[in-house]
Amino acid sequence: MEMNAPAPPNAIDENRNGLVGAAVDRVEGPLKVRGTAPYAHDVEEARKLAYGCIVEAAIGRGEIATIDAAAAENAAGVLRVMTHLNAPKQGERRVESGGERYARACPQLAGTRIAHWGQAVAFVVAETFEAARHAAGLVRVAYAPAEGDYDFGARLDAAEEPATLFGEAPDSIVGDFEVAFAAAEIALDATYTTPYHFHAQMEPHAAFALWRDGKLTVYCAAQLIAAARKSLAATLLVPEDDVRVVSRYVGGGFGGKLPINAEVILAAIAARELGRPVKCAQTRQQMFHLTTHRTPTSQRVRLGASADGRLTAIAHETWSHRARDDDFYEAASAQTRTLYAAPARLTRHRSVALDLPVSDSTRAPGEAVGLLALEQAMDELAEKLNMDPIELRLRNEPSQDPEKRIPFSTRHLVSCLRTGAERFGWSRRNPAPGSVREGNAYVGMGVAAAIRSNFLRPSQCRLALDGEGALTVQMAMTDIGTGSYTILAQIAAEMLGLPLERVRVELGDSALPPTPGSGGSWGAASAGSGLYDACMKLRAALAAKLGVPATEAVFAGGRVSAGDRGATLAELAGRRGLTAEGEIVPGGLEKQWSQYAYGAHFAEVAVDADTGEIRLRRMLGVFAAGRILNEKTARSQLQGAMIWGVGAALHEEGVVDARSGMFVTQDLVHYHVPAHADIPAVEAYFLPEIDDKTNPLKIKGLGELGICGAGAALANAVYNACGVRIRDYPLTLDKVLEGLVGRPSAA
Ligand code: MOS
Repeated sequence: MEMNAPAPPNAIDENRNGLVGAAVDRVEGPLKVRGTAPYAHDVEEARKLAYGCIVEAAIGRGEIATIDAAAAENAAGVLRVMTHLNAPKQGERRVESGGERYARACPQLAGTRIAHWGQAVAFVVAETFEAARHAAGLVRVAYAPAEGDYDFGARLDAAEEPATLFGEAPDSIVGDFEVAFAAAEIALDATYTTPYHFHAQMEPHAAFALWRDGKLTVYCAAQLIAAARKSLAATLLVPEDDVRVVSRYVGGGFGGKLPINAEVILAAIAARELGRPVKCAQTRQQMFHLTTHRTPTSQRVRLGASADGRLTAIAHETWSHRARDDDFYEAASAQTRTLYAAPARLTRHRSVALDLPVSDSTRAPGEAVGLLALEQAMDELAEKLNMDPIELRLRNEPSQDPEKRIPFSTRHLVSCLRTGAERFGWSRRNPAPGSVREGNAYVGMGVAAAIRSNFLRPSQCRLALDGEGALTVQMAMTDIGTGSYTILAQIAAEMLGLPLERVRVELGDSALPPTPGSGGSWGAASAGSGLYDACMKLRAALAAKLGVPATEAVFAGGRVSAGDRGATLAELAGRRGLTAEGEIVPGGLEKQWSQYAYGAHFAEVAVDADTGEIRLRRMLGVFAAGRILNEKTARSQLQGAMIWGVGAALHEEGVVDARSGMFVTQDLVHYHVPAHADIPAVEAYFLPEIDDKTNPLKIKGLGELGICGAGAALANAVYNACGVRIRDYPLTLDKVLEGLVGRPSAA
C-alpha cells in the first residue's frame, strides 16, 4: 500500500484483541536472559574457525613507509597477516551527495595512505583469538607522518558550507534576521559547545564470515541489512546476490552500526583467502577509532524577543567536524526551523574538515546536541524576560510549521509541557537561582522541550500461516535492543486474532523481504506498516476462503467469523498453508504535513556548594509520539534515551590529542557514561495521541525522542540550583566551581 492519504479508521484502531499498546514482555527476552540469543560473535555454525585481530595505525595522517610482518607471520598459530601489500583489490569508497551513504564501498588495507589514527593497517588471522592478538602486537609498521588537522576549536575559521542537509539546504532564511535581531527589545547571543560523543554500545562491533560455493554469508552487528549487503558487495566486487547478511540480535546501535566497519570487510576477505570461516570482534578500545562518533559542535544561538516574550528573531548556527574525505556533519540547527514561531529566522550549518575518523549519526543526529544549545538559550531568554521558561515556550507556539508553512500532522508540545509541569510539581520551583538550599546542596529544577523528526521508508514483509494456525512473519528488519521482535509480533497477533505465542517473527537476514532497518527512529513505523499491509492481504485471503467479505470478517480467538459463518485459521489455511506479501510505500505526506514527535523534560538536581558536584535527583519526560505500540518497550526506549541525555549533560566527553589525532578517551574508564548510581528516578510518560498522517499504524518514531532536550533540562536545573550558567558541555564540577567561587559555602 502507498501512504498517500491520511489513514482511515482501521483494525489497529479497533484493537479488538487488545494487543496493540499492551505492555507485553519482550518475546525474545528469555533467549537474552539465558545468554542464548545468537549475537554475531556468538554464532557457531562452522568448524575450523579462525580469528582475526586488527592492527591500528599509530599516526593521525601520513603514509605507511614499511611494514615488517615477519615476526607476526612466524608466531605460533598464525595463518595469515594481511596488509596493503597482499590485500585483494576492492571497490573504491565514493562520497557523492545523494548516494546511499551506508551502501558505499568500505575498502580496507587499500594502500599506504593513513587518513586517521587507528585506521586498520594489518589484519592478523590465527587459530585462536589469543594467538591473533599476540601476533598483532608483533607487526612492525614504520610511518612517514604528515601534518594533520585534529583540533576542532582551532579550525573553526576553515569551516565550509556543505552541499546539502539530508537533501535540504544547509542554510535557511526567513525575513531579515539581522534587522529584526538588532531591533529586538530583549536579546540573547550565546555560543554553546558540545564535545565528541561515542556510541559505546554494549555489544562491540563483530563479524563472522564464511564462504560456501563462492557465496558469502556474514553474521555481523548491523542496523541496516540491505545497506550492509550492498556495501559488502561493492567492496568485495561481487554481485549482491552472492552476499547474505545476517544480524539477528544487535546489542545497541545508536547509529554506530548504520555503516559496516573494518572488521566485517576484513573477516570476509580473510575468510575467502584462507578458505576458512573467520571471526573478528573489535575491542572496546578499538571501537573509539574504528567506528564512527558524534562530532563536537559549536553553536551560536541568537534570540530576539519583545518584552512580552514573543520571539521576533531566531538564529541558530552550527559548526561541526567532518572527516576530510567524508560529507557527514551534525545538523544541529535543523529543529530550530520548526520548533518556535518567529517572523525573522536564520539557520546555518558549516563543517570543518579534520583528519579524524568519520563522524556520523549518533542517536538523534541533529536534535540531540542542537537542543542542548537551543533549549538552554530559551532558558536564558526566559530569565532576561523575567518569565517562567514554560510560559515563554507557550507564547511562541507556532500555528503551522514556521518555515515549511504547512500544517503540523499533530503537535502536542504544549500539552507535554503542561502535563509535565503538573506531574513534576513545577509550581514548587523557585525562579530565583541559588535560592533553595538543603544542607550543603543548592537545589533546582529545569525544563526543556523535545522534538524529533518522523520518517516512513519503503518496507516489505512476508507472512506464512501453516495448517496448525501458526503464523510466521518474515522480513530483513533488525532489533537493536528496541523491541522490534515484540511489537511486530503484537501487530500480527492483533490483526489475525491469534494468541501472541502463535506468532513467530523472523528478522535480521538479507534473504528475507527488504526493510529500511533500524535507524532514524523509522524502524517500527516502516517495518510495522509493511507488516500491516501483509496482514490485510492475509485477512482478505482468509475471508475469501470462508466466503465472506473481508470488511465483515472478524479475527479473534484464532478464528475468522462473519455473521453465522466461521472457521479457525488452521482450517482455512489447510494442509498447504497460506502466504501473503505486503509492502508500505511512502506517499510524500510529510510534504503536506510537518511531522515530528514532541516531548518535555523536567529535571531536579542538587549541586554541592563546596565541590560543585551535580547529582540528578529526579527526572520526568512527557511525550506525544503518536500511538504507542507497547507501553513497556516504548518506555524503555525513552528512559534509555533520557539517561543518555543525562550523560550528555554531565559525563560524556571524548577527548582528542590535538597533536596526534588520537582519542585519548579509549575506554569506559575515561569516556564516562552514567552508571546506576547517577540515575535515580527517571520517569517517561506518554500522552495519548493518534497521528493518521504518518502511517497506517498512526505511530511516530520514538527511539531517539527521549535524548532530545534531556540534557538541556539538567543544564537549566543546574542554573536554577546554583546560578552558574555553563554553555560548554558536559557540566563538570570544575566548571561549576569556577562559577561558585566567592559564594559563601554552607560550612
Ligand atoms: Mo540512528 S543515530 O539513525 O541509529
